[in-house]
Amino acid sequence: MTAPLLGVNIDHAATLRQVRHAAYPAIKEVVEAAEAGGADFITAHLREDRRHIQDADVPAIMAASGTWLNLEIAAVPAMVEAACGWQPKSVCLVPERREELTTEGGLDVKGAAAAPAQAAAAALRAAGIEVSVFVDPDPEQIDAAAGAGADAVEIHTGAYANAANEEAAAREYALVAAAAAHGRAKGLTVNVGHGLTLANVGRLRQLDFIVEYNIGHSIICDALFCGLPQAVGRMRKALGL
Ligand code: PXP
Repeated sequence: MTAPLLGVNIDHAATLRQVRHAAYPAIKEVVEAAEAGGADFITAHLREDRRHIQDADVPAIMAASGTWLNLEIAAVPAMVEAACGWQPKSVCLVPERREELTTEGGLDVKGAAAAPAQAAAAALRAAGIEVSVFVDPDPEQIDAAAGAGADAVEIHTGAYANAANEEAAAREYALVAAAAAHGRAKGLTVNVGHGLTLANVGRLRQLDFIVEYNIGHSIICDALFCGLPQAVGRMRKALGL
């Protein structure tokens, strides 16, 4: 198996900037520092409420990056149209509620989000952009993501990451593992993300077919103590990279 890729989500570097409507930290320097530490690519979520990443950040990230951008967006026409214009390498379709603290669950692609996800995937793929869908570890959601035309699924690891004790973590891990195996069997690229830390990421490495790890909050927090390149390096080490 080839080594997985670490996508560093820089949303919360932009959060620090936006809480003061400041010009710093400059997104260019954030991208450069993450890549200096070994980020294989950069992930950013352009939320409807623009609480962290701003529209102008998207081309700025792409210009600064020596790797590529994985852009997270809601499956709504305005976002899809903007993404088709920016041409990131990949787009991850995520659910969005304005009042949520963070992305709280996967996209309900087998339910209410089926038609929007299908339309978004068709438009993005026609623009040459790879499409992944962020889903809960549920085989039916994975089947629906494949049916919607996704190239990849990103399995939501939040319930695993936030498990209150080892028993719950083992249970949630088993769900992620089963969903990941299901996605692989369907021929999808299987990625993971949300809530991953130095302490909990290692267990996922048993799933040696996972292609991308998308990790943000814990790396930005760790960077307060050791600097962003070092924090990315520490996560790479935790992933055995
Ligand atoms: N993957 C997706 C689809 C996300 O929405 C997020 C959070 O924006 C992440 C990964 C990264 O999660 P965290 O910041 O908890 O590492």
